[in-house]
Amino acid sequence: MAWLVRTFSNPIGQKVLVALTGLGLVGFLVSHLLGNLNIFRGEGAINDYAHTLHGLPGFALIEIGLLLCFLVHIALVFNLTRINRAARGKQYTVRASKQTGSMGRAMVSTYMGVSGIILLVFVVVHIGDFRLMRGGYDSLYTYTHEVLGSGWKAALYMAGSAVVGWHLWHGFQSSFRSLGLGHAKYSPLIERFGAFLSIALTLGFISIPAWIFFIKGGQ
Ligand code: HEM
Repeated sequence: MAWLVRTFSNPIGQKVLVALTGLGLVGFLVSHLLGNLNIFRGEGAINDYAHTLHGLPGFALIEIGLLLCFLVHIALVFNLTRINRAARGKQYTVRASKQTGSMGRAMVSTYMGVSGIILLVFVVVHIGDFRLMRGGYDSLYTYTHEVLGSGWKAALYMAGSAVVGWHLWHGFQSSFRSLGLGHAKYSPLIERFGAFLSIALTLGFISIPAWIFFIKGGQ
């Protein structure tokens, strides 16, 4: 337990935890997308998938783990941003002329911060739509059509899916660097794989509201 407290109170350990929880969330997104794509196989397939998922032993624990991943990731990012800002302030007064190198880093953290906050708003709305409604619908297929059949909700889900890719584009490769896995030979491969994953997840998620709204013409 003492090692856990030491890890949490140390900025390097916190960066590692941000990376590990981030990669855990990427794993969730991949499985979430693969599961959701069952909607294209028809009503029976997506409803069976949801039924099987909820029947998994320890499903409640998986949900708690997922929630913890989100909370730890967000809380530590806020904390590290605060520490970095304080450090940058001090550095500025001591070595104002050597600040140019940190401009790029500052821009990346603004970009990650803005995409992260938009993503958080999307996830809160999305959990309200689907997770908190669990039990309130007989068919997930019909319910998803009901939610995404409305124009503004379809637009919100498409925008949210695009922001997932935006956040991951930098976040994925950055996680590997935080874990000390930056390597002259493998980093370009990780970067390319991260870019592929960002595009695939964005297009995959967008395909669902787009199909329901534009092709099926809503509910
Ligand atoms: C745009 C297409 C998306 C669709 C159609 C969709 C659909 C769903 C559905 C149907 C559920 C409820 C599943 C159940 O009954 O257990 C759900 C849960 C959830 N979704 Fe999505 N989702 C989408 C995108 C996303 C994205 C981009 C994220 C994250 C950034 C996300 C995060 C979550 C989370 C955290 C839950 C709750 C999981 C749980 O605790 O059971 N979803 N989604």
